[in-house]
Amino acid sequence: MDYFVVDGSSFCKKLSEYIVTNNYHSRHIFILTDENVNKFCLPTILSVLENAKYDVIVCEGGEENKTLETCCKIWRRLSDLNCDRHSFVIIIGGGVLCDMGSFVAGTFMRGIDHMLIPTTLLAQIDAAFGGKNGINFYNVKNQIGLFLKPKSVAVNTDFIKTLPERQFNSGLAEAIKCGILGVDGILNETSNKPLARTGILRIVDDAIRFKISITDEDFTEKNKRKILNFGHTIGHAVETYYMPQLLHGEAVAFGMVCAVLLSERKFSLDKKYAEKLISIIRLYFDKNIVQSSDIESIIGIMRHDKKNENGEIKFVLLKDIHSPVYDITVSPEDIRKAINDAIKIFVNI
Ligand SMILES: NC(=O)c1ccc[n+]([C@@H]2O[C@H](COP(=O)([O-])OP(=O)(O)OC[C@H]3O[C@@H](n4cnc5c(N)ncnc54)[C@H](O)[C@@H]3O)[C@@H](O)[C@H]2O)c1
Repeated sequence: MDYFVVDGSSFCKKLSEYIVTNNYHSRHIFILTDENVNKFCLPTILSVLENAKYDVIVCEGGEENKTLETCCKIWRRLSDLNCDRHSFVIIIGGGVLCDMGSFVAGTFMRGIDHMLIPTTLLAQIDAAFGGKNGINFYNVKNQIGLFLKPKSVAVNTDFIKTLPERQFNSGLAEAIKCGILGVDGILNETSNKPLARTGILRIVDDAIRFKISITDEDFTEKNKRKILNFGHTIGHAVETYYMPQLLHGEAVAFGMVCAVLLSERKFSLDKKYAEKLISIIRLYFDKNIVQSSDIESIIGIMRHDKKNENGEIKFVLLKDIHSPVYDITVSPEDIRKAINDAIKIFVNI
């Protein structure tokens, strides 16, 4: 898989060179996007495709539309527009579009070549890399999907200029996760708020390198890749329970605080270090998002987590600074306590 990360004016030149070098402009191109991206980012991309034959399919965005029904609509449009195995699909959007679009392209006619142009911070740092795609099903996040890498990912950090603050912070959660797992530079940069969007290129670049280094080693998540689920066991369950009220990063931020508390409890993670991590997370996520009356339902959702084995709920925890360990069984009692303690750490309004 090829990728490049740039900001601003060099993006169009770089994308144009890439498309011409790979002869994609001579194929029928299908662009999948959503309403917001259509408005904010698509004109930049279309300026590169002036001489190509393309069709734009504007999908319904948002987590609540990451469904089989939306996929069916896109597959129907691709069929009606005569997409074939020589076509090329360009998916432009946030994590929802990247996940769903890759799944759609990867299954249509057993797979159409596709590239991703992620437009949210979360998608640039995380969702567009690592080859996981899919949709939500039966009230479970990402229940159906594939491990499949796109041909390429093109990142333009200028696209995030139009992101609302909440979306920007949601992306930062995944950056902070990389910092906690092993990238000191990201932890240092995110501990200084306000973080300037114009200076985000290095954080994005570092986070992508980190993710690729892990996923290249263990693409289908048999072992080491599991560490990237830090904060996600509780995070995914919280996100699912409150869907579509919460953003992915908000739920993951809450899950990371719980994971830090559990790491202190189970592995005696240094208290001062744990406090430092929690204070960085709280710089961007200060409000409580979980009600104690919902804890049992949230644990109920966790019992269906893909990472579980033999009915046990598995976590990624920290043994020490930058020393994550995975497949750690945590009892419902300990999960309950961690969530209750995390609720007290955030501001309750
Ligand atoms: N596959 C993976 O490895 C992976 C990793 C992390 C998250 N995810 C998935 O990513 C999804 C969340 O992604 P997200 O946070 O990007 O949400 P999203 O895709 O819903 O995008 C958030 C909102 O921002 C809008 N938007 C996108 N780009 C914009 C821009 N440049 N300017 C203004 N608005 C813009 C979108 O239209 C949408 O309304 C979740 O479904 C999550 O499961 C996948």
